[in-house]
Amino acid sequence: MKTVVKRKVKKTAYYLLAGIVAIFVISILGITYYNDYKYEQTYEYKLIAKGYTKEEAMKLQEKLSEDKINKLLELEQKEEIILKILDEKYYLEKNLDEYLSFYKENEEKSTYDIVAMVNTHANLNWYENIKEADTSKGNLLLVNKFYQLDENYTPESLTDVKNWYSWGSQKITQETYEAFINMFNKAKESNIKLIINSSYRDYQTQEKTYQELKNTFGSKRADAQAARPGHSEHETGLAVDLFDEKYTSTGNFKDSETYEWLKEHAHEFGFIERYPEDKEYLTGYTYEAWHWRYVGTEIASQIKEEQITFDEYYAYYIENQS
Ligand code: DAL
Ligand code: ZN
Repeated sequence: MKTVVKRKVKKTAYYLLAGIVAIFVISILGITYYNDYKYEQTYEYKLIAKGYTKEEAMKLQEKLSEDKINKLLELEQKEEIILKILDEKYYLEKNLDEYLSFYKENEEKSTYDIVAMVNTHANLNWYENIKEADTSKGNLLLVNKFYQLDENYTPESLTDVKNWYSWGSQKITQETYEAFINMFNKAKESNIKLIINSSYRDYQTQEKTYQELKNTFGSKRADAQAARPGHSEHETGLAVDLFDEKYTSTGNFKDSETYEWLKEHAHEFGFIERYPEDKEYLTGYTYEAWHWRYVGTEIASQIKEEQITFDEYYAYYIENQS
């Protein structure tokens, strides 16, 4: 009798144990399935399924909005170039679609150039999609082939430059003038005499300057060398064309010691080289070693340090913030 009871107890214990094990196994499977299901809903999983590595998927999630990730997921395959574009220092999310479409037509260009050109609008035809220049920006006013000043714009505090510093009668803003005098005095210590050869020009004068070039050389060359009226930095009172006594032409100024000195020191006084060599594709103008633009010492130093044009600086640090 005792043995029968014992067997029954043993059997019950056995079923109980089997039941517990079964519940345990089912629970584990259920949890695993649920976890897998949940993971499959994540962007990480979906991006990896498209061919991105885990690190790439993480970078995309860190840098892109959900909207942009969803668009990427709609594409048939991995978009290799986007990862390089995201690594560019001056990448702006608002321009992502434009970077990608511009790249599709210009696959030979570097991603640096793609980003720089789209940011500064240099991917468009010059003088296309012109906007009003923002004169509230003071010393950081951008005027170029896409940003135009009004015909009647006159800079505040235009000041006559003493003959001592210039050829012909010249005007620049008071702050630019003070900065120039400091720079002039410092350059003199190195036996360098800076001369202002051209400075503020009003709309009508700029129009004449441009027309004369156009009438002589045709519009292609005129556009590479002079701004159309409303589009010249000379209309801001913040720009000077500099020569020295020996190197007195736009042709040879780049070979002068004065230019070398300016490249090294002008930023200490708030001036930047505005149309550097090899940046025509961004500025729209051929190399102008003589044209220096006042922006203030802090920004001039940053622009020199980062080796960017003012157009790039403005797009990334000013326009993007406002
Ligand atoms: N030469 C410069 C680009 C100007 O005309 O403003
Ligand atoms: Zn100039």
